[in-house]
Amino acid sequence: MSLTANEHISIEKIKKSKIDQVDFDKLTFGKNFTDYMFECDYKDGKWQNPTIKPYGNLMLSPATKVFHYGQAVFEGMKAYKDDNGEVFLFRPEENFKRINISSKRMAIPEFPREFFFEALHTLLQLDKDWVQPGDGNSLYIRPFAMATEVGVSAAPSDEYKFMILMAPAQAYYTGDVRVVIAEKFSRSADGGVGYAKAAGNYGAQFYPTNLAREKGFQQVIWTDSNEHKYLEEAGTMNVFFRINDTLITAPISDRILDGVTRKSVLKLAERAGIKTEVRRIQVSELIEAAKNNELMEIFGAGTAAVISPVSAFSYKETVYDIPKTNDGYAVRFKKELMDIQQNRAEDPFGWRYPL
Ligand code: COI
Repeated sequence: MSLTANEHISIEKIKKSKIDQVDFDKLTFGKNFTDYMFECDYKDGKWQNPTIKPYGNLMLSPATKVFHYGQAVFEGMKAYKDDNGEVFLFRPEENFKRINISSKRMAIPEFPREFFFEALHTLLQLDKDWVQPGDGNSLYIRPFAMATEVGVSAAPSDEYKFMILMAPAQAYYTGDVRVVIAEKFSRSADGGVGYAKAAGNYGAQFYPTNLAREKGFQQVIWTDSNEHKYLEEAGTMNVFFRINDTLITAPISDRILDGVTRKSVLKLAERAGIKTEVRRIQVSELIEAAKNNELMEIFGAGTAAVISPVSAFSYKETVYDIPKTNDGYAVRFKKELMDIQQNRAEDPFGWRYPL
């Protein structure tokens, strides 16, 4: 293995790419990783030894703190390739800021900006062939940080690992998304970690989501943990409701993730002159609107999910179908967003980040 270094990062080169083994037309989300990964350790009070190396397994003690206390955070971001072969990230600054916000809440030391951006630049140079052009194709990027001190005392770790993995991706949801509105379980609570991309936020949803799946629904729309009265977010995405022509989404709070796609949709809606309301929305208001044929659309917005229309929701054992539309807001915003991401449209907001 040859070892080279750029400004800060050491690079261990692969012997041979695995790219030929991947069928880019049949990708399962998050299963095929690129040739390289980034790894950096926090020890003796500082982040050090940033390295890019061949994607591979880690060797960790079974007493590593992350396995016991879930002290871990992550991000989801994407790179795109345009028809001329140029690669872009979408609003990476937002992910950088957010992982440090999440880390702070989980008592993980903040990660330095120069390592984060240099790692992304170098990884994407090395793995650029893994970013496929064309509609719906992207490279999903997963930065994460975890507690690596060995020992099971329930106190913050004094060692951490920050890593970045990358996986070519297509659609996250392949078919319709049907959702259950939460009546019993909660995703987050006031004063909790709902706004952070803490690993455990996701793991804690798996059991109630499995119960929903058994009934033919893919996701849960979480409600406030006090009364289960207000609609908040879905497990892998923020949620928008279109009642008549007004687009409504819950305000971010310490229970709701400040989604990058969510805020991008709000900007696109504002640009289009669409009436938006960022406010708390009650389940009862949704049911009323559905009964009066005023509920035109529900869709989720997230990095992995992009814009995913919801075709039905269930509440108190009643299923409400949402009429399918091909010229609704979801279709429109998805196209506008993808056109900006893939450099097919002007970028008035400065969201594209060329590499
Ligand atoms: C993302 O959109 O990046 C997410 O965090 C969803 C992920 C849990 C699949």
